[in-house]
Amino acid sequence: MDFLTLAKERFSVRSFQSKPVEQEKIDLILKAAQLAPTAVNYQPQMIYLLKSEEALDKISALAPTYEAPMVFLICADENRTWKSKMEPGYSTGEMDATIVTTHMMLEAWELGIGSVWVRLFDSRKVANAFNLQENIKPICLLPIGYAAENCVPYAPWHNVYRPIEDFTITL
Ligand SMILES: Cc1cc2nc3c(=O)[nH]c(=O)nc-3n(C[C@H](O)[C@H](O)[C@H](O)COP(=O)(O)O)c2cc1C
Repeated sequence: MDFLTLAKERFSVRSFQSKPVEQEKIDLILKAAQLAPTAVNYQPQMIYLLKSEEALDKISALAPTYEAPMVFLICADENRTWKSKMEPGYSTGEMDATIVTTHMMLEAWELGIGSVWVRLFDSRKVANAFNLQENIKPICLLPIGYAAENCVPYAPWHNVYRPIEDFTITL
């Protein structure tokens, strides 16, 4: 599939089959995570594969996961992120982790696997639940799985996009 077709056809899947995602597909999604660009190629992503009933119950209590058979918890390891000398306190961890997540989401779709990006959680509670070290910052979740048969884009405005002139300024 060419990139723009994939980008246009993908939509957030919030209704999944219970069928697990095959390991070969998980490996390809992780390959896409590995290939993502990050600041100075520091690769600060830490990805937790939440697959056990215990881990899925824990995360579902803290965030919407739509009963997906598997959830990726994508974090930034602040010990590895690029830090600005010009702007003390600024690091690219969140940016790096979100590029990684975008790669994973698009690769998943290419493989016929649905996903939904989730940020509706308190990162401190997620960090506590999984005993994450102080330097590991939860950035987002990616519940994944095969879409339920009748799954369609949730919002009727799914295909409504701002005109390009609306969000660009040529100087
Ligand atoms: C940064 C970010 C955070 C999001 N958080 C949530 C979320 O917490 N729960 C959810 O159901 N969808 C969430 N989404 C999915 C968006 O609602 C969805 O991508 C958007 O409405 C466009 O719809 P589409 O993905 O079907 O094209 C999030 C997406 C992004 C990019």
